[in-house]
Amino acid sequence: MRNPTALLAAVGLAALLIGCSKPAPKTETAEAPEASEATEVHEVSEEDKLKMLASLPAPYNGADMENGKRKFALCRSCHTVAEGGPNMTGPNLYGIIGHKAGSHEGYAYSDALKAAGYVWDPAHLDTWITDPKAMLPGNKMTFLGIKEAKDRTDVIAYLMVETGAAKPAHD
Ligand code: HEC
Repeated sequence: MRNPTALLAAVGLAALLIGCSKPAPKTETAEAPEASEATEVHEVSEEDKLKMLASLPAPYNGADMENGKRKFALCRSCHTVAEGGPNMTGPNLYGIIGHKAGSHEGYAYSDALKAAGYVWDPAHLDTWITDPKAMLPGNKMTFLGIKEAKDRTDVIAYLMVETGAAKPAHD
């Protein structure tokens, strides 16, 4: 007869090993998990993200992060947001707010965006994602735009939190 304690220990160890071999499951709130979640590798908790959101200037502090995340799905096929994330069809967007347009390392921008000369802030981002072609003719971001102002605010707030522009409020 086997020693039940030893068996239990073995099962426990196996569970632990399996547990270690993959990242801890993210605790999703309301929405269904998104397939491309794996590109988000940073360790910021949902609670910290809400604190960051609250620290943003109006109207972004009142944005709906869940909606922003949902609407960012429109961008995700071309852009990663995590620090050090790869360039895809579009450049990685980490650190984009406060960054000069057309200057992310290792990405081949259009001449139009390289020459744009502005620094990305929420107002420029808002105009950009309303209609990039109208804002900057000759750029190569093939995106029709987000027509609802509230959706743009939510996406920009989401971007500020996810790309390092917002810092957690320490109390
Ligand atoms: C079909 C692919 C595609 C989609 C969808 C897309 N983008 Fe882009 N994006 C690009 C490309 C390509 C560029 C580079 C444009 C250029 O060089 O002219 C770009 C550039 C940008 C830039 C400027 C980056 C820099 O370093 O100056 C920002 C900001 C941006 N996109 C944000 C967004 C957001 C936010 C969304 C969603 C609302 C989005 N993009 C959707 C392809 C895309």
